Amino acid sequence: MKQRLVDEINKQITYEFYSAFLYLSMASYCAENDLPGFENWFKVQKDEEEFHATRFLTYLHDRNQHAVITGFENPPTEFTSLLDALEKSIEHEKFVTGRINYLMDIAYEEKDYSAVDFLNWFVKEQTEEENSFNIQRGQVKLVGDNGPGLFQLDREAATRVFTPPVIP
Ligand code: FEO
Repeated sequence: MKQRLVDEINKQITYEFYSAFLYLSMASYCAENDLPGFENWFKVQKDEEEFHATRFLTYLHDRNQHAVITGFENPPTEFTSLLDALEKSIEHEKFVTGRINYLMDIAYEEKDYSAVDFLNWFVKEQTEEENSFNIQRGQVKLVGDNGPGLFQLDREAATRVFTPPVIP
């Protein structure tokens, strides 16, 4: 494997773990603001991100490469509202989509078709991730300051569960 692709995948492991902490921070905000359903929803998202990080890590090992585990900057800890957290989530997911596209660009440039095949799963995953956050943001926007509406959304968010994806 070309070293620059290995280096960028190592960076991606860090970004995915950062994502997990970002969503855990949002879960914590929800817990402190009487939104236990969204606390659950963000914790499930944290599980998704840990799954992503571990997939990248395992892939490097599958290719006999050295994985580098590093720390990362602190995620934000203050949010003005649930909508604010969801807006920040969407911005972050767009950034991650850009990262996956960048990794794919390198894989093609290096003619590393194993990496292209591996990354294809993440290309699809990012479409789902952005869509999932967009739906939540749209619904939270729709209910606005309507307490019973938000209460209902929170109850729905409580039903989200993490199911490790089956990788074809
Ligand atoms: Fe790992 Fe939310 O992208």
